[in-house]
Amino acid sequence: MSAENKSVGLLGVKPLSFGDALSSSRRKNQMIEMASYAQLGTVTAEGFPAVRTVVIRGVLDDQHLLFSTDARSAKVQDLEAQPTAELCWYFALTKEQYRLRGVVTMVGDEEAAQNATLKHERLQMWQKMLPSMRASFVSAAPGQAKPVDSHADLDKYEPQAADINTPSPNFLLMVLTPTRCDYAEFPTVQEDSSKPIHRESILKPARQANRWIHTFDSQTKKWVVRQVNP
Ligand SMILES: Cc1cc2nc3c(=O)[nH]c(=O)nc-3n(C[C@H](O)[C@H](O)[C@H](O)COP(=O)(O)O)c2cc1C
Repeated sequence: MSAENKSVGLLGVKPLSFGDALSSSRRKNQMIEMASYAQLGTVTAEGFPAVRTVVIRGVLDDQHLLFSTDARSAKVQDLEAQPTAELCWYFALTKEQYRLRGVVTMVGDEEAAQNATLKHERLQMWQKMLPSMRASFVSAAPGQAKPVDSHADLDKYEPQAADINTPSPNFLLMVLTPTRCDYAEFPTVQEDSSKPIHRESILKPARQANRWIHTFDSQTKKWVVRQVNP
C-alpha cells in the first residue's frame, strides 16, 4: 500500500481493510473511464474457466461489488450451477490489482421484490444506463446465432426502447460478496530529470511491490490479513 493507504496504529504501520483500500483506489483512479472495468471469471459446466469484462457500477457497504448483466448470457448459466467467481480489477494509474473471490448473488424481479436495498440499487442502475443499453435487454438474446439477413435492410431498422421505470426481467443486478481479496501494488518509478537519458536503470523506485491476502474467517466472522511476497 502507498503511504496514504496505510494507517499508523500503536504497533506501527498496519494495512487498511481491503474495503478501505479499494475505495481509496477507486477515488484516485476515478478520472479514467477504464478504472471501472474488471474481469469476471466463472467456471463453465465443462469445467473451463470463462473470463469477460464487466463494468463495476458501485460498491455497497465497502465490500459488495455491483455490476449488471443479461439473464440470458452464458455467465448466468455458469453462476447458476456454480455461484463462486473471481473478479480481477486493475487500477492503471496507481498500479494496483485486486483479485476478489467470492459468491455472486443474482438479483432479478423475484429477488428484488424481497429486498428493498437491492431493489433500489437495481432500479437506479437500470435508470442510469444509456437508452441503447437498456434496449439491449429487450432485444435479441446475447450469444444466440444471428439471423443471416439481419443487416440486409437498414431501412427496416426500428429502434427498440425499454421502460425507464421498470427494469426488464432480463436485467440482473449482480452482487459479488468477496470472502478473499488478494491485493497487490506494483512498483512505480520516479523519473530523475537531472539525467539526460531516462533509461530503466536510472529510474528511482518510488514504491516497492507489496501484496496482502485478506480472508474472511467464517468462524470468527472477521477479516484476517497477512502480507506475502509479491
Ligand atoms: C468495456 C466492456 C464492458 C462490458 N461491460 C459488461 C457488463 O457490465 N456486463 C455484461 O454482462 N457484459 C459486459 N461486457 C460484455 C462482456 O464482456 C461479454 O462479452 C458479455 O457479457 C457476454 O459474456 P458471457 O457470454 O460470458 O456471458 C462488457 C464488455 C466490454 C468490452
